Amino acid sequence: MYKIGIFDSGIGGLTVLNEITKLLPNEDILYYGDSKNNPYGNKSDEELLNITKRIVEYFINYECKIIVIACNTATTRCIHHLRKMYPDIIFVGTEPAIKVACDHHSKSTLVLGTKATVTSASVQKLIHENKRENQTIYLENCEGLAHAIEVQDEYTIHKILEEHLLPYQDKEIDAVVLGCTHYPYVGEEILKYFKNATIYDGSIGVAKEVKRQLEKHHLKKTEQTLGNIKIIDSIET
Ligand code: DGL
Repeated sequence: MYKIGIFDSGIGGLTVLNEITKLLPNEDILYYGDSKNNPYGNKSDEELLNITKRIVEYFINYECKIIVIACNTATTRCIHHLRKMYPDIIFVGTEPAIKVACDHHSKSTLVLGTKATVTSASVQKLIHENKRENQTIYLENCEGLAHAIEVQDEYTIHKILEEHLLPYQDKEIDAVVLGCTHYPYVGEEILKYFKNATIYDGSIGVAKEVKRQLEKHHLKKTEQTLGNIKIIDSIET
């Protein structure tokens, strides 16, 4: 039995899994990398909901109690529907760390994400709730980047980064929010464009929220033994 199920459109959510296992080393976790349906970023809300519903059902068969959507795209587009459809499941989502960047008094924040994420109502809400008057927030759809990272296509990664980041080099960017869980894999490369910027990603916040939910619902494993981690690639299912 796995209490926690984590999913993403491939390897991106492993960056979240990593933070969760650091904070909760004893928990048994099932990770589902949906590489078969990668990328999620250009899919319609209907397609995304069908995909994510199937994954939720898969986790329910394994008796998961907490499902972590380790994907900004699926969170911003589907989490509210999934919560309504599966009221007995505890969902923890991943959203761009806009609040953290604003709270750290960033002046010019660049939020990078998929098309579905940067055009979502959830991101608009995050900006509305957190941006101070003297702060500027830019949203950039890095079309194709998550997929290039998934398939480790170095040439395309460099090309996309150059095309999407160069235009911001004169904008005095001091914070870059990685609004896609695939992007931490190229975090260092992104920093080369913005020497004075701090990078923010949501994975630590997600790990803390998972811990909070486990404690709140008395689901935390009591035995002090190292957890079982099982990683599944949808291509093999
Ligand atoms: N890693 C995902 C995210 O955080 C999905 C990227 C994609 O499949 O387009 O948005």
